[in-house]
Amino acid sequence: VGLNTLLLIAAYLFGSIPTGYWVTYHLKNIDIRHYGSGSTGATNVLRVVGKGAGLFVLCADVCKAIAAISLVRGVYYLGDLYHLFPPGIDLDIWKPWIMTLAGLAALFGHSNSLWLILGPGRDPNLANGGKAVASSLGVLLALSWQVGLATLGIFITIIALSRIVSLSSMLSAIAISVLMIGTHQPLPFCLFAIAATAYVLIRHRANIDRLLDGTEPRLGQQVQASD
Ligand code: G3P
Repeated sequence: VGLNTLLLIAAYLFGSIPTGYWVTYHLKNIDIRHYGSGSTGATNVLRVVGKGAGLFVLCADVCKAIAAISLVRGVYYLGDLYHLFPPGIDLDIWKPWIMTLAGLAALFGHSNSLWLILGPGRDPNLANGGKAVASSLGVLLALSWQVGLATLGIFITIIALSRIVSLSSMLSAIAISVLMIGTHQPLPFCLFAIAATAYVLIRHRANIDRLLDGTEPRLGQQVQASD
């Protein structure tokens, strides 16, 4: 198994860390997937447990995605320093592509957590993770902190105006592609942005239905039954 394959597996495993599930389980002794939207993401933890837990899960999910990309950066840095790569390989070309693939692996892991799929809490009828919003932000911050911070600013502004997290998430997800392409970031990062935009929107299908029905909860509204 090549080094790049190991890095992508590691990125998937980082993304797989089911922070929201673990935090809720340890704090409340409940399976978050039976409550609210059924997602293990920070929004649902905020809704079901409270602000502190929600903020913690948000930060942890951002950090695990940053860790996945930082690992690639670190290994490539050391590999270059100690000449661990075969001669003739252009690391400047390889690194952004592997960082991009690692970002996608982390997003996929967040929504399809190995621990939730195989662990003691496995249940094919429940979600296997979250909607890849916090993890997308983490990857973005690691790929281009300027685009990451701009996206975070857009996210916070839309939340302040609408108080609907899913709406903010989806509009921010669209902004990722616009900002990456608009600021002429490297091709692999732009492709990551397009894939992340599409992935986040697809993961919000149920939210889109609720938004169209006018039943999507706003911040502060308590929802107990899983849908
Ligand atoms: O970050 C996820 C958010 O956009 C929606 O979460 O739990 O309201 O479906 P939720």
